[in-house]
Amino acid sequence: MKKIALFNHKGGVGKTTLTVNIADALADMGKRVLLVDADPQCNLTSFYVEESKLEQLLGESGQDGSEATLWSAIKPVVEGRGDIASVALWEIGESKTRLFPGDVMLSLYEEELPQAWTECFARKTRGYDVATAMSRAVSAAAKECRADVVIYDVGPNVGALNRVVLLDCDAFVTPVAADLFSLRALSTVGVSVARWIRDWATIRSIAPDAQRRALFQGKPAFLGYVTSAYKVNSGRSAANPHQDWEKRIAPRVRDRIVTDLRAVDDALVPHGGNKIGAIKHFQSLAPEAQKHGRAIGKLRGYVNSGHYVTVDEAAAEFRELAEEIAKRASL
Ligand SMILES: Nc1ncnc2c1ncn2[C@@H]1O[C@H](COP(=O)(O)OP(=O)(O)OP(=O)(O)O)[C@@H](O)[C@H]1O
Ligand SMILES: [Mg+2]
Repeated sequence: MKKIALFNHKGGVGKTTLTVNIADALADMGKRVLLVDADPQCNLTSFYVEESKLEQLLGESGQDGSEATLWSAIKPVVEGRGDIASVALWEIGESKTRLFPGDVMLSLYEEELPQAWTECFARKTRGYDVATAMSRAVSAAAKECRADVVIYDVGPNVGALNRVVLLDCDAFVTPVAADLFSLRALSTVGVSVARWIRDWATIRSIAPDAQRRALFQGKPAFLGYVTSAYKVNSGRSAANPHQDWEKRIAPRVRDRIVTDLRAVDDALVPHGGNKIGAIKHFQSLAPEAQKHGRAIGKLRGYVNSGHYVTVDEAAAEFRELAEEIAKRASL
């Protein structure tokens, strides 16, 4: 089983959209997928779970005894009441894919994490327990549903929650949209992930032997980047055509992410960090997919037949992307 994440802390670059569509393509390839919504915004969970069910689900997670979301799984550890709780995973459509639902209350976990991090450096058991709580809950869920791959959906930041998500991953992919801020964010991706890996290596090296065995490796490999023709609507219209941005992305990824990670360990960039693929602008099909809780390539029968050519194009595009990710991540 491998854990991966699509990570770029620039918001709205299509992380959740890619997660949904790549998961769908991987499932079609016969992989058992566990989706984990580790973004307190819960966009991935809202994508799949209807509002009425969501209300029930999220309403329950705050109550003792109910185990409905990622937060309820780790809450006993965070509150110092016990170990992780098991949670009923959601079935996605007719596939074998499962969803570990997210929760806005995950922000409470995020609040605890900086202290846990400091406690890890002080070799305190509580530090290790809290820092690894989500990882352990997700691994247990992956085992239960016999997942081949776990895909975490993360929020747009370089905060403490994303730090433990990334360190729990075997690999990550960076989606880049064609705009200045998305490009600028690449520097922070490289600097942050490299620092997290170094810090965790120190934490592991000073941990008592018995504790170290329970700690995740903390060595996410950078598989490469995916460009998205979808332009974030940031107000003023862009003067530069998409191709101009595309040309600037590769050198920036190389100078920032690849260089920073290679400075830590060459093995963190096993495929040179080059482009994995490109995603088109699917216009109104993206909101349609959201409305029906389906992948864009699975909208035949749900949208006007005039869109079928684009629907099939999307299916082929995401399939290609999923195949390349599967190859690079050795899924
Ligand atoms: N290829 C695409 N074509 C058309 N619309 C898209 C495409 N990708 C994403 N979108 C739309 O752009 C918006 C943002 O996408 P998405 O939620 O996937 O981004 P995100 O990176 O997950 O955002 P956040 O940082 O808030 O988590 C959504 O409304 C989505 O439907
Ligand atoms: Mg998202």
